[in-house]
Amino acid sequence: MCRELCRWVDPTRPQRILELGAGTGVVTRTILHRMHSGSALVAVELLDDFAPFLQRGSDRATILFGCVTQLRERLEAAGPFDLVISGLPFPSLPESARRAVLSIVAAATPGATFSQLTELPMLYRGLYRRYFRTVRFRFVGLNVPPGGVYHCTGARAMRVW
Ligand SMILES: C[S@@+](CC[C@H](N)C(=O)[O-])C[C@H]1O[C@@H](n2cnc3c(N)ncnc32)[C@H](O)[C@@H]1O
Repeated sequence: MCRELCRWVDPTRPQRILELGAGTGVVTRTILHRMHSGSALVAVELLDDFAPFLQRGSDRATILFGCVTQLRERLEAAGPFDLVISGLPFPSLPESARRAVLSIVAAATPGATFSQLTELPMLYRGLYRRYFRTVRFRFVGLNVPPGGVYHCTGARAMRVW
């Protein structure tokens, strides 16, 4: 799953990368391992209880603790991002948090990808198609539980949702 989430982390060129819902840092460390030495990673996690795990081996990342809704302006200022990788429970987030995520993604560089984890394969394809012009789903069977990643590009303007 980490490998699929990091599909668009490009080791050959510098990128500005945002990770949302970094948890214990398993994906964070995979991004750091794969990314170009000139890339920058900002990782966001709601719960600072995860700090001892998340910070271990992640010293090259800028780690911010708090809700994505509260961090929205700070993250918009830290962008534009070339890639947003999300482990957030996006479909069950409150509307304000979804809007914060989509506003950060909408401000990303042209062609930027939003790669979203899911543990319910295909169920939310329609949801992501409301927000993005192109949605590609990659199934990941070798994961407990099996899941996948939605790779989304072309954020739609908020007024057409
Ligand atoms: C499925 S877990 C991610 C797992 C992570 N990739 C790992 O390796 O541990 C989702 C994470 O999103 C965080 N989260 C949920 N809502 C959030 C929000 N509004 N803002 C920031 N993080 C949030 C949770 O605290 C949780 O750590």
